Amino acid sequence: MMYFDNAATSWPKPHAVCDAAASYLGERGGNPGRSGHRMSFEAGQTVDATRCLLAQLFNAPGPERMIFTSNATEAINLALKGFLSPGDHVVTSSMEHNAVARPLEALRARGVGVTKVPTPPERGLDPAALEAAFLPETKLVVVCHASNVAGTINPIAEIGELCRRRGIAFLVDAAQTAGCLPIDVRAMGIDLLAFPGHKSLFGPQGTGGLCIAPGIALDPLVEGGTGTESESLLQPESCPERYESGTLNLPGISGLGAGIRFILDEGLKRIRETESALVASLMEGFAKVEGVTQHGPPSGAERAPVVSIDIAGVDPLEAAVILDSHFDIAVRAGLHCAPDAHRSMGTFSRGTIRFSPSFFTTPAEIDACVEAVATIASEFATRGGTR
Ligand code: ALA
Repeated sequence: MMYFDNAATSWPKPHAVCDAAASYLGERGGNPGRSGHRMSFEAGQTVDATRCLLAQLFNAPGPERMIFTSNATEAINLALKGFLSPGDHVVTSSMEHNAVARPLEALRARGVGVTKVPTPPERGLDPAALEAAFLPETKLVVVCHASNVAGTINPIAEIGELCRRRGIAFLVDAAQTAGCLPIDVRAMGIDLLAFPGHKSLFGPQGTGGLCIAPGIALDPLVEGGTGTESESLLQPESCPERYESGTLNLPGISGLGAGIRFILDEGLKRIRETESALVASLMEGFAKVEGVTQHGPPSGAERAPVVSIDIAGVDPLEAAVILDSHFDIAVRAGLHCAPDAHRSMGTFSRGTIRFSPSFFTTPAEIDACVEAVATIASEFATRGGTR
């Protein structure tokens, strides 16, 4: 299988990730921070080590500000629902994933004002347009770092600076960029950073997190046992316990730590350069195929490693099935849980075919992919298409 679906979840994982996750099923155990034995203590050290690696990667003010969640969606829900109250106003882009758009819709029904700023998929969110949408009651800006459909990168540092100047909190959905683009929460003015562990950080599924800046107070989504202050029936105030009730995902967090170590050892810069070169050659190849339309930033512009295309006359979902069954190529097609982004791109409601390579993709796989798309395009052009 040639795997071009890393924007959904990365695969393969580095061997060290598989070993670290498996070791917490086969060789090690213990509930971190809960019990009075060696294995529990060591499990706590594993959690702390991954927390420290995340803090290092994102330049967080301290490891205790990194909260583990089960994915980026849960982190975004915690940030939005824990921060906003009826009467508040939030500004977002028109390129968001449903992980942002759906909780915002639910909050709108509870009396939170929501403004979506039209965002060109070729360039990303214009900070001036964002500022024009601010109201006196605007409390939060939430945007993706990069679109999961078009790969468009938003000017996060500029938006962070704007939010800081206007006293508005800033939440970034880093689902497509954590582990792939440099993120410095302090330099970029990010108050809340939501990220998945299982995409570009190479961790197992069921991992993710939220980085919370000091001074940002959130209501927890979940209350319960934390292994601390057990005498009290009130949820602890301190981070990270306040937001981490219940047993953590030790195999996942252990694997995530190994994923981050892999990135730090290889170097984010090298990973980024490799992925950008693969994307450039994929786009160059697609540009030569008659009947293929590419979406998002023009070739040569910076983008997350995501390429969305249309093949004339071919339904995207059918193209994905053909790529899988005839060419052993895995992609994601359709709306990618991002109907707003597709509306902004003019590809609603049919969607697109999305190719997302990773550091482990080979140039030969890129060539095979372009060839497969060319074969499908010419076959359907001869047949007159399915639409
Ligand atoms: N959000 C993930 C994607 O874009 C699952 O495919």
